[in-house]
Amino acid sequence: MSEMIKLDKVVIRFGDFVAVDGINMSINNGEIYGILGPNGAGKTTTINAILGLITQNSGKIVINGLDTRHDIDRIKMLIGFMTQETVVDQDLTARENLEITGRLYHIGGDELDREIDEALDEADLQKFRDVKAGTFSGGMQRRLNLVRSMMHNPRILILDEPTTGLDVQNRVSMWKRIKDLNKNGLTVILTTQYLEEADALCDRISIIDHGKIIAQGTPAELKRLVGSGDVLEISARIEYVEKIQKMLKSKFKLDSENASDKITCVIEKNASATLSKIAAELDKEKIPVNSIGLHLPTLDDVFIKLTGATLRDSLGDNAKSMRMR
Ligand SMILES: Nc1ncnc2c1ncn2[C@@H]1O[C@H](COP(=O)(O)OP(=O)(O)O)[C@@H](O)[C@H]1O
Ligand SMILES: [Mg+2]
Repeated sequence: MSEMIKLDKVVIRFGDFVAVDGINMSINNGEIYGILGPNGAGKTTTINAILGLITQNSGKIVINGLDTRHDIDRIKMLIGFMTQETVVDQDLTARENLEITGRLYHIGGDELDREIDEALDEADLQKFRDVKAGTFSGGMQRRLNLVRSMMHNPRILILDEPTTGLDVQNRVSMWKRIKDLNKNGLTVILTTQYLEEADALCDRISIIDHGKIIAQGTPAELKRLVGSGDVLEISARIEYVEKIQKMLKSKFKLDSENASDKITCVIEKNASATLSKIAAELDKEKIPVNSIGLHLPTLDDVFIKLTGATLRDSLGDNAKSMRMR
């Protein structure tokens, strides 16, 4: 597979603050690549550098052989971009929004009419072509946004948190749209805070935290970092966590990870039998737990293993995830 995008030791600072701290990434032509991380991890900053909206302090970004520092005008024609915020003009109709975007990309005449028509079809908004975008639901606005970013038929589509704030139904329908676009050969980069999204959609993923890549690979490879077997998860009041971890070690020779009130460890064999024994032991030692159970490794387990925090706990609360480290 040929390489479409390469980031080589990219560093981006805002004053003294290092938002992106030496990131390397190699994204192949035709893949869906995920950048997964909590709020403030540096996802949008990385995307903005790929788009040439900001310039890195050091390192290199090459897109289809073009350096973002020298060839940004040509790069812009290669990339479609959907921001985290909704940027459709609320006072304009769906059609007018598409018309403006088309003109920005120097599309005109019959071609513009055709592109607008296709875009409205793709977004399932043909019926609402002459309705003001301001009256649209979140899902409709997001769909309009998506087809808008594709009007110049780019080879790469970059989506910054494409489903944040959408309900489950709209989220799943957005996943399908992204997959369909990718089937036609489009390279897709998306950022997300949702582990399930990265897992369901992406061929390969970089997990980033505090501007650094902490793991890279396919979802399956990343889950293997946790170990082979089932993951035992126990949730208990904070004051019991250490006691439970010691018990798991001394009685069952199990090394565990913990993130606030959650304890996880991998059980390689006979997981259900071990689970029963652990439950019996907790009972015997009169240690109360809120829940205990088994699951197959998820990307959340990977995040806990690598950072000692759950991705969900760190959402919107960087201070907390730093404290837990
Ligand atoms: N223009 C800016 N000036 C100063 N700090 C910034 C700026 N943009 C982003 N940051 C900081 O850089 C870090 C990464 O931000 P961002 O890339 O937006 O994270 P994410 O998209 O992963 O939530 C955050 O701590 C954020 O506050
Ligand atoms: Mg962001």
